[in-house]
Amino acid sequence: DRLKRLFSKKNKAKAPREHSSRSFANVWWSVPQSDDTKVCVVMVGLPARGKSLIAGKALRYLAWVGIPARIFNVGTYRRQDTPQPNATFFDPRNPEGERMRRAAAEAAVSDMLRWFKQEDGIVAILDATNSTQDRRRWIHERCLAAGVETLFVESICDDEELIMNNILEVKTTSPDYKGQDPEVAAQDFRNRIRNYEMAYETIGGSEKSYTYVKLINVSSTVIINQIKDYLSSRLVYYIQNLHIKPRSIWLSRHGESEFNLTGKIGGDSMLSERGQAYSRALPGLLKKSGVPPNTKIVIWTSTLRRTIQTAKPLEQETGFEKLEWKALDELDSGVCDGLTYEEIAKMYPDDFIARDEDKYNYRYRGGESYRDVVIRLEPIIMELERSENVIIVTHQAVLRCIYSYFLNVPQEKSPWMEVPLHTLIKLTPRAYGTEEQRFKADIPAVSTWRAKGTSAKHQEFPTGATAAH
Ligand code: ATP
Ligand code: F6P
Repeated sequence: DRLKRLFSKKNKAKAPREHSSRSFANVWWSVPQSDDTKVCVVMVGLPARGKSLIAGKALRYLAWVGIPARIFNVGTYRRQDTPQPNATFFDPRNPEGERMRRAAAEAAVSDMLRWFKQEDGIVAILDATNSTQDRRRWIHERCLAAGVETLFVESICDDEELIMNNILEVKTTSPDYKGQDPEVAAQDFRNRIRNYEMAYETIGGSEKSYTYVKLINVSSTVIINQIKDYLSSRLVYYIQNLHIKPRSIWLSRHGESEFNLTGKIGGDSMLSERGQAYSRALPGLLKKSGVPPNTKIVIWTSTLRRTIQTAKPLEQETGFEKLEWKALDELDSGVCDGLTYEEIAKMYPDDFIARDEDKYNYRYRGGESYRDVVIRLEPIIMELERSENVIIVTHQAVLRCIYSYFLNVPQEKSPWMEVPLHTLIKLTPRAYGTEEQRFKADIPAVSTWRAKGTSAKHQEFPTGATAAH
């Protein structure tokens, strides 16, 4: 029961958990249906069908929820011997090309199985075209023999314009074409696709017993077959929600609150005067960040008054739809709610030290840990993946967790990140990562950031100080 042990170990509460108002939150990932499940996600599809993008996002998601995962990209193995092949290398009638491609796949699969065994891996993503039934049978058999489940993820796309865009966006700059003329590279890549098409077999026929998902034209149609374990079902649910429409996600903390001014944590206080000034400045700040004409943005807040109050002028000026989410409420600090860090250090000295030692896992007495917050934010991430433009007005700890998902911040770093008040963060997903911009309102606020080992009161954030951390 490795998966269970893994989670229970990491979910170990450093403080009693009996009063946790959100103990249900552990249900998602910590109670897997099957024991010892290891999954190899086998990407399938012609070149330029978004396989690497899907693999990269799935990896980021898994890292965020704390599942040991790794990508094995066969292209990387192939490049060791054949760094810049031209299209004829991928012609199925080219025996030397076939041999070398097979050798690269074998090296990747061997390394992957070694990783599962020696490094306790849980999810491997085998990123390659895996475009024939023969190749997939071989992978399935190798995995089966090693006690690893397979989940085939096939991306099918016949939208020529999108494929051409994909080639121009990511393929002409790939290491396969480094230093080459982009037009020649694009033409060669189209020929490479033609060669793959000659041998390509979509999943079907003798593969009916496999666990697979087919994403057709970026999930306009999704076919799901034979999902057997919990881990695969979570992954499939995540993958089918992905889209590639251009959009941005804006993140902001609420304006400075009365509790912020006095250094108290938690609570449900209203905004200070400066916080109210930030709420009035937010519509202008959003505009300044660059919003394409006729863009509809949905406003998400928590259910606490300081975020609702912050979003009010934005809601009124723009007429944008607004949703209040309980899941966006601040990390529950349990018995420490309403205290300052100084008071906590005096009243609960052991807890204060324990939190600094492992801030991600420390759960407040009767409250939550960052790990708990990540678990309750999972539906928010799913909904964000499905949505287009969203502005989220939330709280320090919650914002850190959401930001960490998009920017791949490791768990041990995320609770210590500085996310200043009165700053709008704009995140724009790109083909290989998330672009970030920060816009600071010229309205002073205290700094609520606390360095490890200190119990300093919230400090004044100097006017005009840059927030570009
Ligand atoms: P290759 O086999 O050459 O490695 P690939 O299938 O891994 O190609 P990517 O490198 O991931 O393709 O291509 C990224 C491009 O595909 C991005 O521009 C992205 O917007 C687009 N894309 C992402 N998802 C899909 C999808 N489901 N269908 C088609 N294109 C997609
Ligand atoms: O101080 C503002 C605040 O949002 C508190 O309500 C919350 O407990 C705290 O930040 C979370 O930050 P940290 O995890 O660094 O204590």
